[in-house]
Amino acid sequence: MKMLSHAEARAVYDRFGARQDRQSFYEDEAFADLLAQLALNEAQAVCEFGCGTGRLAKTLLDEYLPATARYVGVDSSTTMVALAKERLAPLGARAKIIQTDGAPQLDLPADSFDRFISTYVLDLLSEADIQAILAEAQRILSPGALLGVASLTHGNTLVSRLVEKIWVGVHTVRPTLVGGCRPISLLAYLSGPAWHIRHRRHIISAGISSEVVVAERL
Ligand SMILES: C[S@@+](CC[C@H](N)C(=O)[O-])C[C@H]1O[C@@H](n2cnc3c(N)ncnc32)[C@H](O)[C@@H]1O
Repeated sequence: MKMLSHAEARAVYDRFGARQDRQSFYEDEAFADLLAQLALNEAQAVCEFGCGTGRLAKTLLDEYLPATARYVGVDSSTTMVALAKERLAPLGARAKIIQTDGAPQLDLPADSFDRFISTYVLDLLSEADIQAILAEAQRILSPGALLGVASLTHGNTLVSRLVEKIWVGVHTVRPTLVGGCRPISLLAYLSGPAWHIRHRRHIISAGISSEVVVAERL
């Protein structure tokens, strides 16, 4: 399957911008599951990779995190970074947004976060980039900290398998039409000795399958 380059992904999301929030019709159930599993009331430092418009960050900071917690969002799209900065501006120094060139490296210190979150981003990265960003998550999280990820995954019912088939067909012909995203299996990337899987759920919303995984960094 042809994956978008970092430059192509940036161009797609620069164009897509605020329309990303319209994906809530299939993302929100996975968001709710993730938020319920991350013990966010105990978190003090959250990193989100591929923060998009800052929609999840705003919910986290307004409703789930202690007032003392800080948030760092990372994204490669200039448009997304501008939207997230605007949305999170009222939170002042509690929230910081960093733009990258798309390389799966984080200019953040080791052992400095207790939550790492990424929703609907790993599914647009190459295999090598998924492994690299999970290695970065492992590096910046302290032992005992939690990783929370959600992505498109494979269907497991008649309807969701059909939707997956159509999605993959579109991706094969023109990956930009589906934001470069394709169904993946998150568990396959988190089976190594660095992670202890605490929670895994398969969710189908509007026929689209998502996988939510929460893992403890050992
Ligand atoms: C499908 S959107 C998901 C946005 C948000 N996390 C959500 O769930 O609504 C993918 C996001 O990842 C960002 N992105 C794509 N490739 C990236 C990369 N290599 N590094 C950092 N961000 C990336 C895009 O700019 C976009 O904001």
